Amino acid sequence: MRVFKNLSALAVLVCVCDARPTSSVVFEKVESSPAGWVLDKTTKVDKDATSITLKIHLVNQGMDKFHKLAMDIATPGNAQYGNHLDHEQILAMTAPKAESVTLVNDWLKSEISNAKVSVKGDYFTVEGSVNAIEKLLKTKYSTFEVNEETKAKTLRTLEYSLPSALVGHVDMIQPTTYFGVKQFRSTISEHHAIEDEAGAFHTDAVQAVTGCTGTRITPTCLANLYNFKNAKNETAGLLGVAGFLEEYAIKTDFTTFLNSYAYFSNKAKSFTCTGVNAGTCPTSPAGVEANLDVQYAGSISSSVPMTYYSTAGRGQWVGSGTNTNEPYLEFLNYLLALPAASLPNTLSISYGDDEATVPLSYATNACNLFSQLGARGVSILISSGDSGVGTTCKVNGKTSFTTNFPAACPWVTTVGGTTGNSPENAWSSGGGGFSEIFGRPDYQNATVNNWLSTDTTHTAVNNYFNASGRAYPDISAQATNFVIIASGSAQSVSGTSCSAPTTAGIFQLLNSARIASGKKGLGFLNPWLYNTASTGFTDIKNGKIGGCSGVISGAGFSAVTGWDPATGLGTPNYEALLAFATSTA
Ligand SMILES: *[C@@H]1O[C@H](CO)[C@@H](O)[C@H](O)[C@H]1NC(C)=O
Ligand SMILES: *[C@@H]1O[C@H](CO)[C@@H](O)[C@H](O)[C@H]1NC(C)=O
Ligand SMILES: *[C@@H]1O[C@H](CO)[C@@H](O)[C@H](O)[C@H]1NC(C)=O
Repeated sequence: MRVFKNLSALAVLVCVCDARPTSSVVFEKVESSPAGWVLDKTTKVDKDATSITLKIHLVNQGMDKFHKLAMDIATPGNAQYGNHLDHEQILAMTAPKAESVTLVNDWLKSEISNAKVSVKGDYFTVEGSVNAIEKLLKTKYSTFEVNEETKAKTLRTLEYSLPSALVGHVDMIQPTTYFGVKQFRSTISEHHAIEDEAGAFHTDAVQAVTGCTGTRITPTCLANLYNFKNAKNETAGLLGVAGFLEEYAIKTDFTTFLNSYAYFSNKAKSFTCTGVNAGTCPTSPAGVEANLDVQYAGSISSSVPMTYYSTAGRGQWVGSGTNTNEPYLEFLNYLLALPAASLPNTLSISYGDDEATVPLSYATNACNLFSQLGARGVSILISSGDSGVGTTCKVNGKTSFTTNFPAACPWVTTVGGTTGNSPENAWSSGGGGFSEIFGRPDYQNATVNNWLSTDTTHTAVNNYFNASGRAYPDISAQATNFVIIASGSAQSVSGTSCSAPTTAGIFQLLNSARIASGKKGLGFLNPWLYNTASTGFTDIKNGKIGGCSGVISGAGFSAVTGWDPATGLGTPNYEALLAFATSTA
């Protein structure tokens, strides 16, 4: 596991010891590659022929003030509620010092000649050969290989340096120390082909909810379970679905899915695919994650237009070729720069990573970008993860529950997993817990304090989580045995990858209903969820999330009455939420 050094403490130390203006400082250092990534000494990368697109982020001014405004904009009753900002307003509020731009520009001019350099807002982009970037950052990039059957490789470094004069002006440089993004989709049942309706599916459980046959989840089952069966045929607004890792959403599969399983009469619906960061939209191969996400978000959101964002660059490659570039920041910066009319109202993201493997500078900057997207009016739903309270259960050498990023960012709405329907239970592998790096936000302070002081099920595991961290999930939804279509045939899929697009579809219905009546979309949801709308959910009181098997006995959190770190506030009740959404100004 990595230890993230405190950058400012390091900087002070270096400035005292060595005051020469041209001296350089180790700007970021991680102790080792994240669990699962090992140094690959045999793969040789041609460092002249391979290029890296470096993002250099300048220290923002006024971020605290911006965050306060972003929270006001999302808090019903506040004079700023719903006054979503445009990109230029955010850039103006958070612009770096002019001096920061000049210093970085001068440094790049003197240190790197044969590279493409551009500056936009608070980012410099530098495209150069690996050799040139190594010289610039006084470092060596190495090939690391993931210790799984994919044998994916990446080119990263554990330590790099900057001129000491840039300390306080630059706060993140990637790709360097961030190893990448995973998708939250359990592979347990993805390849189980599904028998047709007349086939081997036995209805062993009592069919308590109309449309929920046995353990299979379809849009009709969800329409009854989450009470959106009488929702209007909405057409206003736009729903966005994020895609990474060359996961392609296939339109013919979407059509087949709507024809077989859609609850609403929206069988003619399609979606737009937009490539980001040179991403592409081929008609094959079908991505199971991508198809799951568009099929559920798209069928639930009735006739609302939908865009699938296919973002290229995974920072990893499999087999030959190299791909060094980072996708996540590219995607968020792409969305932030869109005009308001092109932004989605709701965004579904089923990707993430262990928080302990994400460099602090990266997590902080990406979370800040989410805060900006919320302030622009986008409701962001993110899967909570599929490992309960952790797998390795070590954080910085300490035995501890582990958490996920961006699930633990306080500026997103994090969706945990449930299973079964009479009653609905916490799904044992659903992610939940307390961030080790982000503090608890005010909007959940009272709710989480109440759980901490009244819940008796967590006392035995108190030593394994930091109770002052941002707690998640915020809400939850079904996560097992979703029927999807991929490459023309039905399969079943599990994971909180199912929960995020399900809730995204439901929140898009709410956003569309508001827009159709002349109101703004809900934007960043959490202050509204924990207050105005907290009773718009069915409280999940059964089941437990687990994890840390063989490391911490009795690890996990139980679903109990009220909010809990297994299922959050509970699962959505559309009609109840609609009443709150239409009565909120
Ligand atoms: C819903 O609206 C869409 C777009 O206007 C339309 O094509 C479709 O026929 C409508 N469906 C129903 C059931 O009214
Ligand atoms: C617990 O989390 C808070 C908020 O993120 C942080 O300030 C504090 O250092 C953490 N404590 C420990 C022991 O990790
Ligand atoms: C959060 O809760 C704690 C404990 O009840 C309280 O002391 C603190 O003032 C609260 N913070 C905010 C911002 O409400």
